[in-house]
Parts: sequence; structure tokens; C-alpha cells
Amino acid sequence: AAPTRYEAENGTRSTGSTVDTNHKNYSGSGFVNSNNAVGAYVEVTVNAAAAGNAAIAIRYANGTGANRPADVSVNGTVVSAARAFDATANWDTWADSTLTVAVKAGSNRIRLASTTADGLANIDYIDF
Ligand code: GCU
Repeated sequence: AAPTRYEAENGTRSTGSTVDTNHKNYSGSGFVNSNNAVGAYVEVTVNAAAAGNAAIAIRYANGTGANRPADVSVNGTVVSAARAFDATANWDTWADSTLTVAVKAGSNRIRLASTTADGLANIDYIDF
């Protein structure tokens, strides 16, 4: 089935994070620019029709030239630690980071949390 798009701006985010529109090519009404701190986060709640393994695609931009690693967690358990969100060409250029995660039936919380003081890459959406 086609994935469902969960816009980052419709999720929850750490204090100091903002929904911005000052770069191009985002989906929805903006993207999340997290605060620049360890633990800065974006979280979306996705709905799974059934328990099992599911593909997710995290849409992000990182115009800094350096990796912005983040822990990816599902329902509070880290499933990809310090996952690399490598530089994209500029802040207007978005890339997908794709991984497979185990989910339960129904609601599942997917969180990206920065592991460095730089905060997260800009996050546009999660396709699930
Ligand atoms: C710039 C950019 C932001 C980005 C920030 C950062 O200010 O315009 O979109 O979030 O850098 O380094 O996190």
C-alpha cells in the first residue's frame, strides 16, 4: 500500500523548535527546525494496521555540510542510535533516510532526537 505521510509540523517537538518555511521544496505547511541542543526532538504518531515490520522514510534537509545524527526511537525504544543525517546540498534540498522498524498494531510514536548540540537536521515528514 502507498505510505501515509505524517508531516513533522503536525507532530510534537522540543521546546525552542519552530515550524519554518524559509527554505524551499518542503511538503505540507512547513518543516521543523529543532532547537540546537542534545535531545532536541520531533515526534509523530503513526497508525499501523497490523503489528510487524514497516518501512519508514524520514524526509530531511541538512545544509550545514556535516552530519546531524539522531536517535530514532519507536514507542520510547531506540531502534537506530545516532543515525546519520548527512549533509544535503543545501537547506532547499531534501533527502530520504529509510529504515525498517517493528511496530505494534495501532498507534506508534516515532521520535527523532538529536545526539549532538547541533540539534536535528530540518525535518519535513515521515512516510509510514
Ligand atoms: C540555519 C537554517 C535553519 C536550520 C539552522 C540549523 O539557520 O536556516 O533552517 O535549522 O541553520 O543549523 O539548524
